[in-house]
Amino acid sequence: MLILALESSCDDTSVALVEDGRRVLSCVNASQVAVHTPFGGVLPEAAAREHLMSVNPTIQAALEAAQVSLSQVDAVAATIGPGLIGSLLIGANVGKALSVIAGKPFLGVNHLYGHVASAYLESDVVPPFLCLLVSGGHTQLIHVTAYDQMSILGETLDDAAGEAYDKTARLLGLPFPGGPVLDKLAPEGNAQRFALPVAVTQRPWDFSFSGLKTQVSRQWSHVLSELGDHPDQSVLNGLRADMAASFQRVAIKALMNKTQACARALNISTVAISGGVAANSALRAALMQWQAEGDSVLGSMRGVIPPFRFCTDNAAMIGASAFFNPITRDIAHDVFSRAA
Ligand code: KG4
Ligand code: ZN
Repeated sequence: MLILALESSCDDTSVALVEDGRRVLSCVNASQVAVHTPFGGVLPEAAAREHLMSVNPTIQAALEAAQVSLSQVDAVAATIGPGLIGSLLIGANVGKALSVIAGKPFLGVNHLYGHVASAYLESDVVPPFLCLLVSGGHTQLIHVTAYDQMSILGETLDDAAGEAYDKTARLLGLPFPGGPVLDKLAPEGNAQRFALPVAVTQRPWDFSFSGLKTQVSRQWSHVLSELGDHPDQSVLNGLRADMAASFQRVAIKALMNKTQACARALNISTVAISGGVAANSALRAALMQWQAEGDSVLGSMRGVIPPFRFCTDNAAMIGASAFFNPITRDIAHDVFSRAA
């Protein structure tokens, strides 16, 4: 079953063609980074206008890259929330219009279900598994018991992990987009240079990142005041790398500690990470190390990391989620019985 999927919930227009929820025939993204960089963050009005400009060429490019025509598509899917309303409206309405033109069903997809479904892309993973969803707006531990059944076991009480990365990057004077820039800088610094806290939460699988961010803010202000009005740039750059490294060490430790404890408590030996922060080099390395070394309680465990390009927002995951949705099964049945 071939699904044409659109994702436009934030600042990237993405269109993908996905077969049977796992095989990505094409996934084309139109990035808006250059538009938002001068503002240091995503400007919603500008994002919606950019989606409007790029959605048609991106659809065209995705169809051409997959070498399929609209008439070969079995259903059209689009993100319908959560996200920036002006941005969502573009992808969802264009998707609905395409479904009418093609005479094929339209499937609205929740963006977060999409991130969870990124685990299926180019992979043979099947539920049950534990998913650590870490994006710019959410940090959740999700127990995926079936393709269409999942429960949130814990989530952040304040900032999302990606938000903490972005805010910390901004505090340190790093350019937008903060998360990946901080990730790139961190290996250059001394991760033990600054002592930063890992939050303790009342409920065992919840997260909290606002205290960490506040500590970075306090300690960085102190560093700047010590260096004075005309700091030596190489000293400042070195300390910035040290702070990035210290933040990254603690942030990843906080994510991994909870995830490991949760997997052990529930005896779940397949653990996936998804969302923009799953693109983080230290988080990917930590999950792979856990898999390589095995677990003291679970014994062997499997770490699932979507290919890099399917961690940050993309339409392929929307196509995957649409396919594994129970409504789609009815449509698929219809498609296959027509073909028979
Ligand atoms: O899933 P996503 O693309 O959009 C949302 O649904 O929010 O996630 C974006 C978030 C941003 O906060 C971004 O800074 C973060 O993911 N991010 C990273 C990395 N790449 C993206 N954070 C840390 N390290 C990275 N390499
Ligand atoms: Zn996202």
